[in-house]
Amino acid sequence: MALKTSPEVGGMGHSIKRKEDPRFIRGKGTYVDDVVLPGMLYLDIVRSPFAHAKIKKIDISKATAIPGVLAVITGQDLAKYNLHWMPTLMSDTQMVLPVEKVMYQAQEVAAVLATTRYAAADGVAAVEVEYEPLPVVVDPKKALEPGAPVLRTDKKDKKDNHIWHWEWGNKADTDRAFTEADVTVKQDIYIPRIHVASIETCGCVAHFDKVNDKLTVWMTTQAPHVIRTVFALVAGHVGLEEHKIRIISPDIGGGFGGKVPVYPGYVIAVAASVLTGKPVKWIEDRMENLQADSFARNYHITAELAATKDGTLTALRIKTLADHGYTDAAANPSKFPAGLFHVCTGSYDLKAAHVEVDGAYTNKPPGGIAYRCSFRVTEAVHTIERMVDIMAHQLGTDPAEFRMKNFIKPEQFPYKSALGWEYDSGNYAGALHKAMDTIGYAELRREQAEKRKRGELMGIGISSFTEIVGAGPSKHFDILGLKMFDSCEIRIHPTGKAIARFGTKSQGQGHETTYAQILAEELGIPAKDIKVEEGDTDTAPYGLGTYASRSTPVAGAAAAMASRKIQDKARKIAAHLLEAAPEDLVWEPGKFSVKGAPNRSKTIQEIAFAAYTNHPQGMEAGLEAVSYYDPPNLTYPFGSYICVVDIDKGTGDVKVRRFVAIDDCGNIINPMIVQGQVHGGLSMGLAPALFEEISYDEIGNVQGGSFIDYLLPTAVETPKWETGHTVTPSPHHPLGAKGVGESATVGAPAAIANAVVDALWHLGVRHIDIPITPPKVWRLLRDKGVTE
Ligand code: CDP
Repeated sequence: MALKTSPEVGGMGHSIKRKEDPRFIRGKGTYVDDVVLPGMLYLDIVRSPFAHAKIKKIDISKATAIPGVLAVITGQDLAKYNLHWMPTLMSDTQMVLPVEKVMYQAQEVAAVLATTRYAAADGVAAVEVEYEPLPVVVDPKKALEPGAPVLRTDKKDKKDNHIWHWEWGNKADTDRAFTEADVTVKQDIYIPRIHVASIETCGCVAHFDKVNDKLTVWMTTQAPHVIRTVFALVAGHVGLEEHKIRIISPDIGGGFGGKVPVYPGYVIAVAASVLTGKPVKWIEDRMENLQADSFARNYHITAELAATKDGTLTALRIKTLADHGYTDAAANPSKFPAGLFHVCTGSYDLKAAHVEVDGAYTNKPPGGIAYRCSFRVTEAVHTIERMVDIMAHQLGTDPAEFRMKNFIKPEQFPYKSALGWEYDSGNYAGALHKAMDTIGYAELRREQAEKRKRGELMGIGISSFTEIVGAGPSKHFDILGLKMFDSCEIRIHPTGKAIARFGTKSQGQGHETTYAQILAEELGIPAKDIKVEEGDTDTAPYGLGTYASRSTPVAGAAAAMASRKIQDKARKIAAHLLEAAPEDLVWEPGKFSVKGAPNRSKTIQEIAFAAYTNHPQGMEAGLEAVSYYDPPNLTYPFGSYICVVDIDKGTGDVKVRRFVAIDDCGNIINPMIVQGQVHGGLSMGLAPALFEEISYDEIGNVQGGSFIDYLLPTAVETPKWETGHTVTPSPHHPLGAKGVGESATVGAPAAIANAVVDALWHLGVRHIDIPITPPKVWRLLRDKGVTE
């Protein structure tokens, strides 16, 4: 993309340094835990050791005797205000604090309020809870078997653990395509429960100011406006109406979807502050965070792919069981209980597809958050990319060649997928060719053949993924009825500097920089002269927040549209100043000049000053605009990743030797930030591919509830990422941009899994579920008789 602005202006395409970094790298950020208010109290939570148990008695006497402990709040206390249950974002219900029984290990049972964090923790240890263990349901398949204990006994008519059945696509056409197919492959694929493990855990400081009748909550939320509305809907009946609530998301240390839902701790802290009239701080510790909230994935998939014998893909059929834990608290758009899983036809021109998903309750904490993922796209991409690889190997075709043959071709865009999505633009072969050239694909295949002769295990894996981001067009996308638009409000000050406020909220993505760059591009005001603010519901325009890579596709578009409104008004003011007709003015970033007389011009700064000092009679003063942008479609970023692995036959250890990632997110706002997003995303894709899993034993004890067991890759395990891009603009986005934040997390696991299976296919290995740990690989090698 040709640059329209100078480096000094810093519009789109300039790798300007992040404006927010000076405060972050100097330790001067303001995170929730940095908020300290006079007289602040501390909240800590008693959690259940059982995954399913009746609460027979809670004895708080020892706890309240501890100096500094002021109160112990139980479900019974909240029940007096009807606040012991709350709605989830998927219109299910979730306990704030239990009255009758607990449903998962580490569930909140009671909360201790104290004058210090330490007293609160001592209080937690002193609360005595008598439980009566109940049968535990861990396996979602068993949860749906007849006779399984019914978990949601709070729902009067509920007779089983089935939450919902959802299907999409044409079943008859798909079944027919399978009957007629020359070749079919079928595979069970488990995508385990994982955790976002942000640097910062969840927490809040709630301050109910009795004098001014106003609740302010600083909280780790990716969607402050939605939270305000949900709080008002849940607690309006006790006087917390929406205009009396201010939610502030200060700096956030990573969200990745985990900071979208409302967790019980937030609600208890708010209730405690309202009851005491004092500020109350609640901050999860690391193990609470890893054990109780922010879980994703957990899909049990059976996928089938059909093809003709010449290797043309024809149909895809998928059945999935979604383990939601004890409540459906996924953060999906309301109409899509399985998120956007039905983008599972991926980058391929399939004529028929049918997908079914069933949700099940189990004795686990709620899951289903969109972990760096547009609502189940990671599950979709992993499935189709694994299946395409299996089919290619089955047919004895090179996986790259097979993909090239079956890709949707550039001339087919806009492309209507078999499952109804309208892909905006793409050039999948272009990205794969670039990845193959960068990594030296042909040479690697030769090396692999040589090594195989010597008995060495080397694999090459490809993932050519298509993403779907920018939720979303209001005709289909809402959360609890709130349409998924987003917003930008711009005010240009008299001296030509500006403030822009957004309904989104960065958690490290660099919005303060990139949104300023969009305004710089559209208005010619240097990015350094533009202050970007997000996350304060008292000042920012209403928006649905940041997750699922929606900021650029939706709020970024709002920034462009609001800028254009400002440009329209600026044209009229310039015409007045230059005594010319508005249509006789020519715009170049930062100034209007008279057609044919380039010396007669007015800069945007001069125009801004005139907007307050010398604007035309009859025109309102000021230079401000707001845009609530309802995207006409989603954007479909894509990429091709190639991974090379070497497998140690003695230990089963998989070493990622090389990883090339070619991404396409349309026009790029800041190439350096995009590269950073891809680097981080790749590391978060490597993690579930090789290391991370939250599992439970048969009585619901969490395995992986601390960083001893939940293995985050460090710099030592992370390979050097080789990144590049192609540019295929979105035709409907005002800047031609698509989202990018999650692409790499979505695309990377399949490339790694495909590389491992590619290394082992000749031994008869067809599939390995992620995480592909050394013991798993070693056992396979032992079974095949090839361990050293
Ligand atoms: O919603 P979220 O911010 O997580 O995701 P995003 O819209 O994909 O943006 C992530 C970061 O990459 C932001 O700072 C964007 O402005 C930047 N970006 C970019 O510079 N160019 C693009 N085409 C897309 C994103």
